[in-house]
Amino acid sequence: MTKLTVIPGDGIGPEIMTQVVRVLQHVKAPFEYEEHQAGEVALHTVGELLPKATIDSINKNKLAIKGPTTTPVGGGHKSINVTMRQLFDLYANVRPVRSLPGVKCVAPDVDLTIVRENTEDLYAGIERMIDDNTAESIKRITRKGSERIARYGFDLAQRTGKSKVAVVHKANIMKMSDGLFLKVAQEVGWQYPSISTKDVIVDNACMQLVTKPQQFEVIVTQNLYGDILSDLCAGLVGGLGVVPGANIGEKAAIFEAVHGSAPDIAGQNKANPTALLQSAVMMLQHIGENTKADAIMKALIAALSDVNARTGDLSGHGSTTSFTDAIIQQLG
Ligand code: NAI
Repeated sequence: MTKLTVIPGDGIGPEIMTQVVRVLQHVKAPFEYEEHQAGEVALHTVGELLPKATIDSINKNKLAIKGPTTTPVGGGHKSINVTMRQLFDLYANVRPVRSLPGVKCVAPDVDLTIVRENTEDLYAGIERMIDDNTAESIKRITRKGSERIARYGFDLAQRTGKSKVAVVHKANIMKMSDGLFLKVAQEVGWQYPSISTKDVIVDNACMQLVTKPQQFEVIVTQNLYGDILSDLCAGLVGGLGVVPGANIGEKAAIFEAVHGSAPDIAGQNKANPTALLQSAVMMLQHIGENTKADAIMKALIAALSDVNARTGDLSGHGSTTSFTDAIIQQLG
């Protein structure tokens, strides 16, 4: 059994987490569940957004599934996700983007994964005011950071039977920083002879993703470009509400939906558990439980195709629980 830290989070988080755990239990996923709090709920009960007990649990188990957490406005609260990324050195942000039946989207047949470097680039927060009218932000790219994200991307491609990796950059302009990233990614690519590597300049990548997204399988890119491209790709397949994600490092892996805590529908049994369930599917794949992952994905796709099963955000008639019932029924 693998010990799993479960963080229900805020708003719709507990509702969708309950249903996702139900599905995991139904397929007898090999987890021992350890529930911990984070977010506003933790702030109210323990006085901290990310309590020590939650951090200790992730440190110990190295595997977590997290519901969305509300970031309180004001008070200088640092985002929980940024804190976790730094604490556990979660260097790979992985976002599979896939068009699903029953989900209205602008691009059918998309099945790609964005592998985004999560710790460097302009997001490292190395900024200063030179004077009142001039600000400076440093873009730091290292060989180590570039190598480990490229390796993650190529390994993922190999593991999932993909044959193409696109390295997205702007090395024509940022010849040193993006130049180093591209050079290192290409060097890593040479070690994977069965995978073809191409480099795509980020502006062209945006155009290609909108006009012909089906040509991409795995995209490896830096922090800023990855952040923007991930949301662009989510838009292609029906929006942030259905897209899963993972933050992965050597010390821990944390799986979570991309959407927020949706306070407008919290407690109404309306929330769509698809994104969190797909994150759980990624988690099963991460620990090598591919058969269970495939079974859940198949059941999810079947339930999504049924207008009576799927939830209202996808123009369906189902609730959070009845949609999950339909998925479980499909699982048999
Ligand atoms: P949101 O993603 O929570 O909601 C945007 C819209 O999408 C709302 O109308 C909501 O009802 C709908 N929606 C989102 N998830 C849904 C689901 N699973 N099923 C059906 N409808 C869904 O974004 P918003 O309102 O900007 O943020 C609310 C809170 O969530 C904020 O405090 C924000 O900081 C936090 N947040 C947390 C994230 C995380 O923990 N990973 C990510 C994004 C936002």
